[in-house]
Amino acid sequence: MAEAVYYFSKDSFIIKPLKKTSPLLHRMILLIFSMICGVYIVSICVRQISRIQIEEVQTIEGPFPTRAVIEITVPLLHYPMPKTFNRSECAQNPVRLFAILSMQRSGSGWFEALLNSHTNLSSNGEIFSSWERRQNISSIIQTLDRVYNLDWFSSAAKNECSAAVGFKWMFNQGLMEHHKDIVEYFNRRGVSAIFLFRRNLLRRMVSVLSNSYDRYAKLLNGTHKSHVHSEQEASMLSTYKPLINSTSLITDLKEMEESTARVMSYFNSTRHIVLYYEDLIRNRTKLEDVQEFLKLPVRELTSSQVKIHKGSLPDLISNWNEVHSALNGTVYKDFINDPDY
Ligand SMILES: *[C@@H]1O[C@H](CO)[C@@H](O)[C@H](O)[C@H]1NC(C)=O
Ligand SMILES: *[C@@H]1O[C@H](CO)[C@@H](O)[C@H](O)[C@H]1NC(C)=O
Ligand SMILES: *[C@@H]1O[C@H](CO)[C@@H](O)[C@H](O)[C@H]1NC(C)=O
Ligand SMILES: *[C@@H]1O[C@H](CO)[C@@H](O)[C@H](O)[C@H]1NC(C)=O
Ligand SMILES: *[C@@H]1O[C@H](CO)[C@@H](O)[C@H](O)[C@H]1NC(C)=O
Ligand SMILES: *[C@@H]1O[C@H](CO)[C@@H](O)[C@H](O)[C@H]1NC(C)=O
Ligand SMILES: *[C@@H]1O[C@H](CO)[C@@H](O)[C@H](O)[C@H]1NC(C)=O
Ligand SMILES: *[C@@H]1O[C@H](CO)[C@@H](O)[C@H](O)[C@H]1NC(C)=O
Repeated sequence: MAEAVYYFSKDSFIIKPLKKTSPLLHRMILLIFSMICGVYIVSICVRQISRIQIEEVQTIEGPFPTRAVIEITVPLLHYPMPKTFNRSECAQNPVRLFAILSMQRSGSGWFEALLNSHTNLSSNGEIFSSWERRQNISSIIQTLDRVYNLDWFSSAAKNECSAAVGFKWMFNQGLMEHHKDIVEYFNRRGVSAIFLFRRNLLRRMVSVLSNSYDRYAKLLNGTHKSHVHSEQEASMLSTYKPLINSTSLITDLKEMEESTARVMSYFNSTRHIVLYYEDLIRNRTKLEDVQEFLKLPVRELTSSQVKIHKGSLPDLISNWNEVHSALNGTVYKDFINDPDY
């Protein structure tokens, strides 16, 4: 019994001081723990900030996610009432609104021709190549309203049974300048954006330089053509081999990437899909993705356009050795080793 008491009192003796000191100990432990936590949180924050900075750099340098379909705005159903004709039997079918956002010589002519081979799609070309239509935001919106009301006439107009209507818009056609109002319009009216980029910007540069050369040289029997429909015409146009300024090449490529990244961030809040020319060429399933994106019945799409600059890059650039040594070993090295597609 005495032993038990002894033990009891010993126990209580042991426990009591512990109980007495425990608030202090707890505080100490808490203090040390919160200090460790604080240091940990700060280090995590610093790491995340630097990671965010790295990511920002990467969005400028690298390609964007191809399957990025953002469904922030549910595509609105439109039942336009055109002023210029009667939708008759298709008046009950909804119409989706879209715009192809791209840069010159990125395959958008070919891509648009493919889309227009769909019976229910109407893409009206580069309507903002005309300066008058893009000179201020009110003329832009007036033009957009007309296109999306099916009142725009072009060779691609399908009228009654169009289920998707849109056009091609190049970055330098007022798109960057008026981006705030345009994004607001897209989100208000439920316009879906189709980004079309080219991965190999060096090949794009070859195409840009040749096309602007042909504007003066007119290689096809005295007429200038940006797109061709026969192998013969393609091979005539590709006889010209541009000289690329190797001094400014890296800066030029960087500028292209930066404007792409800028447009992507401006239009990030719109419903959009990102496509690459090279992927469309290699993988025709991508065309089904586009049709699903526009909620169209999926069809086989065809285009009679012929690619102009085929083959390996050394055969397409007259100062290949200079270009090669300017890009070899840089972040753009993949552009020079890219096999033909
Ligand atoms: C369009 O067609 C419908 C029925 O076919 C008709 O009721 C309507 O009046 C027409 N509208 C115009 C503007 O012609
Ligand atoms: C906008 O451009 C149109 C021509 O497309 C012109 O008639 C109109 O006056 C311009 N508006 C403003 C506010 O500058
Ligand atoms: C597509 O067009 C055809 C006529 O060319 C029409 O019968 C059909 O209803 C249209 N489909 C849609 C989804 O509008
Ligand atoms: C250019 O002329 C050649 C013959 O001189 C002809 O075969 C070819 O079809 C012409 N091409 C164009 C684009 O007119
Ligand atoms: C090439 O680019 C450099 C740097 O921008 C410029 O100084 C030079 O004039 C350019 N050369 C040609 C032939 O355009
Ligand atoms: C677009 O927004 C998403 C999140 O909403 C973000 O993850 C992505 O990095 C943004 N892209 C660009 C290019 O700003
Ligand atoms: C082709 O594209 C489809 C749809 O984007 C994708 O699921 C498929 O993996 C691609 N195929 C190849 C061989 O890349
Ligand atoms: C390209 O760079 C690699 C290493 O980065 C080097 O081995 C190769 O010799 C270079 N090629 C030329 C043609 O300079």
